[in-house]
Amino acid sequence: MMTTNQGFFLLKSRLTKAVQQEILAAARSVVIQAPLFRPTMANGQSFNYSMTNCGELGWVADRHGYRYQQVHPETLSRFPAMPQVIRDLAINLAKETGNDNFDPESCLINLYRKGEKLGMHQDNTEKNLSAPIISISLGDSGVFVLGGFLRTDETKHYIVQSGDIIVMSGESRNFFHSFKGTVPNTSNLLKDGGRLNLTIRQVN
Ligand code: SIN
Ligand code: FE2
Repeated sequence: MMTTNQGFFLLKSRLTKAVQQEILAAARSVVIQAPLFRPTMANGQSFNYSMTNCGELGWVADRHGYRYQQVHPETLSRFPAMPQVIRDLAINLAKETGNDNFDPESCLINLYRKGEKLGMHQDNTEKNLSAPIISISLGDSGVFVLGGFLRTDETKHYIVQSGDIIVMSGESRNFFHSFKGTVPNTSNLLKDGGRLNLTIRQVN
């Protein structure tokens, strides 16, 4: 386990292949009910990767900005319930890293294909900015970048591989971070390649 004194954890190889496959199957069942979408933001720019959600609330973006809502922005159906395997894992990971009483309300599923990435940002759409953020990596490896409270703070690069977990709690909960992109053909978990990242959050 890699831990910093700022509440940031990178749990390498935390998930067995069997568990990774179980979570992938659960994510697939979500995608069938709530198709992946690629939001366009206020400035007309399209997101660089695809996403969907499960759980009570889903994180969405459009010309009005970022928010949580109960319905898929295209189908207008409620996001499917969070599969039990994801919910239980998130609660256990929170406990394991010293975060009791975590209530997983939302699971954002990001799919990054070759060349797709996510720029530097802070997670601040949540009302609750102290509950931990649990992040599950599946499929191709990639580079996760962690900064500090300021956009200009020094950054550290971490390789995230299939089955690795990141927990951002404590101070690091509100640190700037980004995903620089995948290293193609580093995993055979997803048959078409790419990386799935599941971000489980408590919103309220
Ligand atoms: C995020 O910050 O929302 C996702 C980061 C990742 O894909 O690892
Ligand atoms: Fe984030």
